[in-house]
Amino acid sequence: MKKRILSGMRPTGKLHLGNYLGALENWVQLQKEYENFHMVADWHTLTTNYTDLSNLKQNTIDMVIDWLCAGINPVQSPIFIQSHVIEHAELHLIFSMLITVSRLERNPTVKEQARDLGLENTMSYGHLGYPVLQAADILIYRAHVVPVGEDQVPHVEITREIARRFNYVYQAEVFPEPEAKLTSFGRLPGLDGNRMSKSAGNTINLSDSPEVIAKRVMTAVTDPQKIRRGDPGRPEVCTIFTYHKKFNPAEIPVIEQDCRAGKLGCVACKRNLAAKLADYLAPFREKRAYYEAHLDEVAAIIEDGTKRARKEAQKTMALVREKMNFGY
Ligand code: TRP
Repeated sequence: MKKRILSGMRPTGKLHLGNYLGALENWVQLQKEYENFHMVADWHTLTTNYTDLSNLKQNTIDMVIDWLCAGINPVQSPIFIQSHVIEHAELHLIFSMLITVSRLERNPTVKEQARDLGLENTMSYGHLGYPVLQAADILIYRAHVVPVGEDQVPHVEITREIARRFNYVYQAEVFPEPEAKLTSFGRLPGLDGNRMSKSAGNTINLSDSPEVIAKRVMTAVTDPQKIRRGDPGRPEVCTIFTYHKKFNPAEIPVIEQDCRAGKLGCVACKRNLAAKLADYLAPFREKRAYYEAHLDEVAAIIEDGTKRARKEAQKTMALVREKMNFGY
C-alpha cells in the first residue's frame, strides 16, 4: 500500500513562481509515489485575518486552478477545502487538550510571527493554537508524510508529539507519527532579490501574460555597480542571472562571459529572460484559460475531492470516538 501525504496551503489567490518551485512542483512529483490529499487551508487564514473574508472564495478558486495547471491530478489526489470537512474542528478540540500552552508558546515559527506582527501580548488563542489545528489536518488522514518548508517543521514536530500522546493515553495505535519532507529546491528570490512573496510585490505569477512578465522582469534588481550598458557586471550578485540559471541554463556560459566583459546590457539580458519565462509559463496559461472557461468543472473537482476527504476523516473520527469512550 502507498504511504499517504497530506499537503496544505493557505488560499492566497494566484500563485507565483516561488510557490511553484518551493512547494507545488514537489507536490506534483510526490503524486507518483504516494497517495496524496491536497487541502486548501482556509480556516488557517483566520489566524492573521478574520475580519474581511470577501476574497476567500475567489482566492480558493484561483489557487486550485494553479494546482491543476501545475499538474495535480484530482482523480488520483483529492483536492478539498478544510472548512468543508468539519471533522477537522472536532479533532482539533480533542487535540487541544493533549498539549500545554507553554509547549505552544515555545514554537519558534509562532514566536517569529508574534514578533513580526507585533502580537507578543495580543495573540489570539486560535493563532497560538494553529499548529494544533494543523496536527488535526494531518492526523485526521493518518498521513505519514507532510511536504513543508523549513518554517513548518516545528508544527510537524508538535503533530508527532500529539500523535504519540493520543496513542499512549488511549492505548491504541490510531495515528502514525508523520514526517516532514522538506522541499529540496533552493528558493527562487523575488525580483528585488528578497524572498518572493505576494505582499512584497516582487513576484511573477504562474498566470502572468508575456506582456506582464516582460514588464515585471524590467523592474528586477541587477548588479548595482553596472550602471551603463558597457559597464562590466557581476553575475554572482544579479537576480536576473539567478533566474537565467534556472530558466535558461543553455545560455549561462555566454551570458556570464558577456556580462563580465561589459558586452551585454541589462535591458537585453532581461528581454531575453522574459522571453524564456514566457515560454516556460505558456502551458500554465493555456490550462488556466481552459479552467477559467470551465469553472463548473473546477467546482466539481473540489466537491468530489471534499467528499472523498470527508469520508476518510469520518472514518478516523469514528475510531477516535470509540477509543476515547465517546461512542455512547
Ligand atoms: N500552516 C501552513 C502554512 O501556513 C498551511 C497548512 C495548514 C498546512 N494545515 C496544513 C500545511 C497541514 C501542511 C499540512 O503554510
